[in-house]
Parts: sequence; C-alpha cells; structure tokens
Amino acid sequence: MRNLDEQTITRAVLERNCGTEDRRLHEIMTSLVQHLHAFARETKLTEEEWEKGIEFLTAVGQICTPTRQEFILLSDTLGLSTLVTAQNHKKPVGCTEATVFGPFHVADAPHYDLGEDISGGLPGTPWFVKGKVRTTDGTPIPNATIEVWQADEAGFYDVQKPGLDNYQGRAIIQADAQGLYHFKSIVPECYPIPHDGPVGKMLEALNRHPWRPAHLHFMITAPGFLRLVTHVFREGGDYLDSDAVFGVRSSLIADWVRHESGIDPYGKEIDSLYYTLDFDFILHHA
Ligand code: BEZ
Ligand code: FE
Repeated sequence: MRNLDEQTITRAVLERNCGTEDRRLHEIMTSLVQHLHAFARETKLTEEEWEKGIEFLTAVGQICTPTRQEFILLSDTLGLSTLVTAQNHKKPVGCTEATVFGPFHVADAPHYDLGEDISGGLPGTPWFVKGKVRTTDGTPIPNATIEVWQADEAGFYDVQKPGLDNYQGRAIIQADAQGLYHFKSIVPECYPIPHDGPVGKMLEALNRHPWRPAHLHFMITAPGFLRLVTHVFREGGDYLDSDAVFGVRSSLIADWVRHESGIDPYGKEIDSLYYTLDFDFILHHA
C-alpha cells in the first residue's frame, strides 16, 4: 500500500487491522479509526492543532498516579462516563439510577458495623444516614454490601491529602437481614474536581467551572442483583444543574434534613446542629 492520500488512508488502516482475531476489539478499533479520521476531516485539523492535542494527552498521562486519575477526569468532563453509564444501566422504572464512578473509590476501605461513625475523625456537622436496600415491590434484599465514600467539609477526599495514614469518610458496611443500613458521618460539601492539571486547563479554556454538587457515593452489591454505583445529592444545593461531570439525576436528589440540637437517631443527646438522610436503594435482578 503506497501513495495513500486523504481519501484512501482510512480504508488502508481498516484493511491493515482486518487480521484482528478478537471480534469485539476489531469492531471497536474499526469504529474508532473511522470516527477519528472523520473528526480530522470535518475540523480540517492542522498539524499545529494535532501537536497540541498530543501534548495535552501526554500531560494527561504524565500527571496520573495511583491516586490521581486524570483520564477519568477527562472522560467525566467530556460526558463520556455518563454516556457509557447510561447505555449500560437501562433499568426498569423504580430502580435506583446509576451515575458516574469517579476517581476516588478505593478497594480496601475499612469495614464498619451498622451505626458506627465512618468519618474517621473528620471535623464537621454530624450526619446520620439510613435507608433500606430493596426490590421495586418493597421486598427487602438481605445482607447487601454497601460501600460509601465522601468528601469532607472542605471538599476534599482522604486520598487527596498527602501524608494522611488512615482512611476518612469511606466505609464498607453490611446491611442487615431486613435490608436496613445506617451509619454516622459528617455532611460533605460541594467541591471542584482536581483542576490543577491538563483537564483543569481544558475546562478553563472552555470557560467551564470544575465544581460538583454535594453528594455521597454508594456502591451496593448483593447476590442475585446487579451492582449499583450511584450518588445521593443534596436537594437545594449548588451546582445541581451544572455538575462538571454531568452526573446529576433528579431521582438521586434527596432532602438532607436539618435538625437543631436534640436527640439524635440513636437516642443520644446532641447539642449541636445535625443532619439526617433517609434513602432507599432499589436494586435490579441480575
Ligand atoms: C467524584 O464524585 O468523586 C468525582 C467524579 C468525577 C470526577 C471527579 C470526582
Ligand atoms: Fe465525589
């Protein structure tokens, strides 16, 4: 194959890839090449522009560490994460909707018993969270494993804090035989996604802000049911309509109820302001 030009190059690449044994890889690469070439043609991409693009992608890779995943930020801010989540989690009406995973989950979060304080010593406004894991007809799903993770009141996750040697605001909890879960934490605030790197520069160039509305992350697994990765957002909070990563769904916005001092849900006297959240998760059969 010689003398390829702007008309013939796409077919040449597709033909070169035709020995791919993995059929799905072949399908994905064919589509990727076609769309990339179409993008370059449609925009009449210049050499300087593509050099900048390569510099940008290089910077995205170079800033990545085990705790800084710039490619997830890129996928999220381009809406690709929400698109992939949405097309892979079409569930019957009534099931809890999924949303973006984000970069701040860790696999080895500490285990807590029901009712324990999962904040790991974070300062903040006390928050009592409870609910039920169930099916659409209300049947409890027993013993689900619930992973939660959250930002602190300054908007940072534990993994973003250099030198911290314990996890904070994250937990693995087992719901009980009736599907009930409950724990104590502190109220998380809105936060900007990490924006001191190439994705932050991209957002700035696009005149976009990096903020996410306040939320609590959940990942729920139970035998016989599809894994649910989702958040619960705060009703009335900022950025619900301009989430930097397009993750908000109306069904995931809940009332984080404010209480003045009194008796907390565990029957203990509390002399400060506190909040409660009651949120059920409705799983779909596998
Ligand atoms: C998060 O909610 O933790 C998150 C999601 C996407 C990008 C950055 C953070
Ligand atoms: Fe988050």
